[in-house]
Amino acid sequence: MTHQSAPELSFGGGLPDLRDQVILVTGGTGSFGRAMTQRLLSDFQPRKVIVFSRDEQKHFQMQQDMPDPRLRFFVGDVRDRQRLMRAFEGVDVVLHAAAMKHVPLAEYNPLEAIRTNIDGAVNVIDAALERNVKRVVALSTDKAVNPVNLYGATKLCMEKLFIAANSYRGSHATSFAVVRYGNVVGSKGSVVPLFAKQRLEGRLTLTDPQMTRFWITMRQAVDLVVLALTVGTGGEVFVPKIPAADLASLAQAMGPGCEHKVLGVRPGEKIHEALITADEAPQVLDCGRYFVIEPSFPWWGGVQLPGHHVAADFTYTSANAPDRLPVVELRKTLVELGFLPDDVGNSAPGVA
Ligand SMILES: NC(=O)c1ccc[n+]([C@@H]2O[C@H](COP(=O)([O-])OP(=O)(O)OC[C@H]3O[C@@H](n4cnc5c(N)ncnc54)[C@H](OP(=O)(O)O)[C@@H]3O)[C@@H](O)[C@H]2O)c1
Repeated sequence: MTHQSAPELSFGGGLPDLRDQVILVTGGTGSFGRAMTQRLLSDFQPRKVIVFSRDEQKHFQMQQDMPDPRLRFFVGDVRDRQRLMRAFEGVDVVLHAAAMKHVPLAEYNPLEAIRTNIDGAVNVIDAALERNVKRVVALSTDKAVNPVNLYGATKLCMEKLFIAANSYRGSHATSFAVVRYGNVVGSKGSVVPLFAKQRLEGRLTLTDPQMTRFWITMRQAVDLVVLALTVGTGGEVFVPKIPAADLASLAQAMGPGCEHKVLGVRPGEKIHEALITADEAPQVLDCGRYFVIEPSFPWWGGVQLPGHHVAADFTYTSANAPDRLPVVELRKTLVELGFLPDDVGNSAPGVA
C-alpha cells in the first residue's frame, strides 16, 4: 500500500494502490495537472508519471520546478491520435485533464473547443483502449450540467463519450470514469485572482452579487480523482459534496470597504450552477461525502459502495447546497491558500 502518513482524503474512500504504476496526465502542465503530479509523486510511489501537453515552455518550467527522475515530459496534442497512441504505450492509468476551459474563448472559437474537448476525448478513449490502459478518469465541470455555453456543452459530450466507452471496451480491460466538480478556488482567470488585484485599487467589479458558485480547493479536486481511482469500477460520474458561496460574500471577504461596481451577468454565464439536476436524480446515489451518478446502460452492475438513492426531485445546485460559506470562512480559506494577507479584515481598501 501507500504511505501511512498521507493526510485524510476530503471524500474518504481510502487510497488506490498505484505503486509501480505508470500514470499519464493529459494537461499535466496545467493547474490540476501539476497538483496531481506532485501528489502522485509524493504519496503513491508510481514507477513513472508522464506529463502530456502541447507547450514546451510549460514542460520546461515544470521540469525546473519538479525535478524528479520518475517524471517524463511528453509534448503532444490530444487532437493527435497517433501521438496519444505513442504516449500511452505501457501506461496503466490515464487522467484526462487537458481542455480548453475559458468560456468566452470557447464561445469565440467554437471549433477549437470542439476539437480539443470532444475530438480530444475520442482520441484519448481510442488510444486507451488500443493500448490496454487499465483505468481512465476524465475531469468534468458543473458547466457541463444543462450547459448554456459551448465550453459546458463540449464537456457534456466528453462525459457522455467517457461513460459510453465502457459499453464498447469489448475484450479490453479498460474502465472509464468521470469526476465532475465546480470552480477551483483561485484558478487562472477566475474571480479570486481578479478580486485580489482589484482590492488593492479599492474597487471590485461584480457580475451579480446574488450569483453563487461551488467552492472546491485544488487539494479537494485531486482527492476526488484519487477517490475515483480507488472506488470507481467504470461508468460512474463522481460528484463531491462541497460548499457554495455567493459573490457578495466573496467581495466582502476579499475587499471589505471596497467600492463595488456591478457589471451584470456575462453571455454564457448562469446565476447559479448545478452539479446534479432532477433529471439525473433517479441515477444518483448518496455515498456520504460524495454522490455517484450511475450510468443507465444495461451492463451496469451497480455501485458496490454504501449509499442510498436520492429523492426523485433531488437537485444539487450552488443555490441550494446545504453548506453556504459565510464571509469569515471564505476569508480564512483565502488567507490559508495565500490569496489574501491575513490582516485583510482590518486593513483599509488600497492597503495590501
Ligand atoms: N479550473 C477549474 O475551475 C475547473 C473546474 C472544473 C473542472 N475543470 C477541468 O479540469 C481540467 C483541468 O483544468 P485546469 O484548471 O488545470 O486547466 P489549465 O490550468 O488551463 O490546464 C489545461 C492543461 O491542458 C493542456 N492542454 C490544453 N489543450 C491541449 C491539447 N489540445 N492537447 C494537450 N494538452 C492540452 C494545457 O497545456 P498546453 O496548452 O500547453 O497544451 C494545460 O496543461 C479541465 O479539463 C477543466 O475542464 C477545471
